[in-house]
Amino acid sequence: MSNVFYRDITKSYPKAVKSHGMYIFDETGNQYLDMSGGAAVSPVGHSHPKVVDALCEQIKTMSFAHTAFFTNDPQEKLAEIISAKFSEANASEANAKVYFTSGGTEANETAFKLVWQYWKILGKTKKQKIISRTHSYHGNSYAALSISGNLPRRRVMGDLLLDWPRIGPCYSYRGLHADETEQQYALRCANELEEIILKEGSENIAAFIAEPVVGASLGVVASSIGYFKRIREICDQYDILLIADEIMCGSGRTGTFFAHEQDDFLPDIVTLAKGIAGGYQPLAATIARAKIHQVFIDNAAGFNHGHTYVGHASACAAGLAVLNVIDQEDLLKNVKIQGENLQAALIDAFNDHPYVGDIRGRGLFRAIEFVADKESKTPFADHLQITKKLKNSVMENGLICYPGGGSMQDNLGSHLLIAPPYILQEQHIDQFIEKLKMIMADVFNEQ
Ligand SMILES: Cc1ncc(COP(=O)(O)O)c(C=O)c1O
Repeated sequence: MSNVFYRDITKSYPKAVKSHGMYIFDETGNQYLDMSGGAAVSPVGHSHPKVVDALCEQIKTMSFAHTAFFTNDPQEKLAEIISAKFSEANASEANAKVYFTSGGTEANETAFKLVWQYWKILGKTKKQKIISRTHSYHGNSYAALSISGNLPRRRVMGDLLLDWPRIGPCYSYRGLHADETEQQYALRCANELEEIILKEGSENIAAFIAEPVVGASLGVVASSIGYFKRIREICDQYDILLIADEIMCGSGRTGTFFAHEQDDFLPDIVTLAKGIAGGYQPLAATIARAKIHQVFIDNAAGFNHGHTYVGHASACAAGLAVLNVIDQEDLLKNVKIQGENLQAALIDAFNDHPYVGDIRGRGLFRAIEFVADKESKTPFADHLQITKKLKNSVMENGLICYPGGGSMQDNLGSHLLIAPPYILQEQHIDQFIEKLKMIMADVFNEQ
């Protein structure tokens, strides 16, 4: 009898006892090929010796000193590296500042508090609402879940959550009209933001938040080209800050360190988590453009925020080691190469499958969307519980992937999210495809 209050109290979980490279092992010796890093977490794979050594060294040397009293080397160095990467990705955007927390939700909370206090300092106290998108997840705290659009995840909170305005996603698989180009579609979607700002009054809007590549809420959906450029223009026109939630899609997952690089727009704030410390420690980052930080400096205003573990030395040491491994082993090159190989292998194996509607993604961030009917793109009925069946079958077949739902609306729409470590090689893709064939037969043959 365990004393753990489990995530799902109706389930029993195998006990993970060892992990190495692309694999996790349970106590009975079962091996799981990790094709999603849990939930898009593990860029350098499991138990990478360089990360383990760096982390042990830091813990032995200086494990923790509260950042209300001290700064520490790992957070200084990691902030410098991330700021330099931000500058590289966004020409001439120098000196961005980085605030370190312990997880994605905290990173977004930090972003929200930052924008609210920014506008307050500037005397625009009515600028409070944060616009988001209907298919979005920005975290599990009260504010982050309020701002998320993911209905199944919101529903548990009943009407307790704030319900601020949202626009639809830019999701061409379902949204593109037969008589429009991708470019026209991108503009149509982005202009929804302008419509809502005009309706609400720009004086009431603090920020707009979106994932450059939507993860769990849609199943790896990048926007059509031009969408985020237009979003940036609208934010500039109406004096609204733009937050890119790259908690899942950032830290190199799509083949560039920041996902927004590929959409060619400059966010005011970027949030990172998951991949940034590769699962070796809980770590997240909120990156603010220098102009935002400057407002606090010019007005001698402190940023009123903080958690006990802000800038945690050991967590930042893990982050530093993970980013060093990504750079030293040139892993983003592998993300691009193996990302293309993975996409090709998925298409080859499953494109003609009667229930595969779409295979998509960027880099090592991919998904398959399943449909009951390819022509009409009708999703499977909710009671068939495709997502749950996929999740069970995936584990039974010694695989870790991230099945999700809701890409159509609410619970409707099923997908499988694939986000393997950046060390992925072709033999892992082969193993994965073989396992996935068995899983698909298991889940769909009875439909
Ligand atoms: C895009 C996005 N934002 C925020 C979060 C919340 O991060 P965390 O679970 O680390 O709090 C997640 C988690 O999956 C996410 O995918």
